[in-house]
Amino acid sequence: MKTLDFTGLKTAGAQKVVTELQQLLADFQIFYTNLRGFHWNIKGPGFFTLHSKFEQMYDDTAEKVDEIAERILMLDGVPAHTFTDYLKLAKVKETGYVSCETECIKNILETYSCFLAQERKIIEIAEEINDEATVALMSDYIKEQEKLVWMLVAYSSK
Ligand SMILES: [Fe+2]
Repeated sequence: MKTLDFTGLKTAGAQKVVTELQQLLADFQIFYTNLRGFHWNIKGPGFFTLHSKFEQMYDDTAEKVDEIAERILMLDGVPAHTFTDYLKLAKVKETGYVSCETECIKNILETYSCFLAQERKIIEIAEEINDEATVALMSDYIKEQEKLVWMLVAYSSK
């Protein structure tokens, strides 16, 4: 039995959405690991603010990882779950040791840029098969991330 038999979304179109969601899933997993590093290694006057902020961000990222993986399952895909696959699929790169707040924030902003482009691409593909649930999920992410981008830019500006 397939989920799509009951939800009525077209299989071929759903597979295209799954391919793009796998990319996003891999990127979020790498981002999660990068954020843990930023949380642990941050140094300087922004420590107390950013140490907590990064924790909030990786907790939120972990929830999104689960939402994306479960959306893939609802589209009859199998979410990637190994780091071997994530590293092959991801556009987001692993960071090395980073303790400087400017570098952490620059990396996070670049990652959000990458997410936003991928989420907009997913919306386009999902709209072709009237996959409203994926469109809504991506719209929620875009709304949140654009706000975070604004806040991080404001935090980093003089
Ligand atoms: Fe911690």
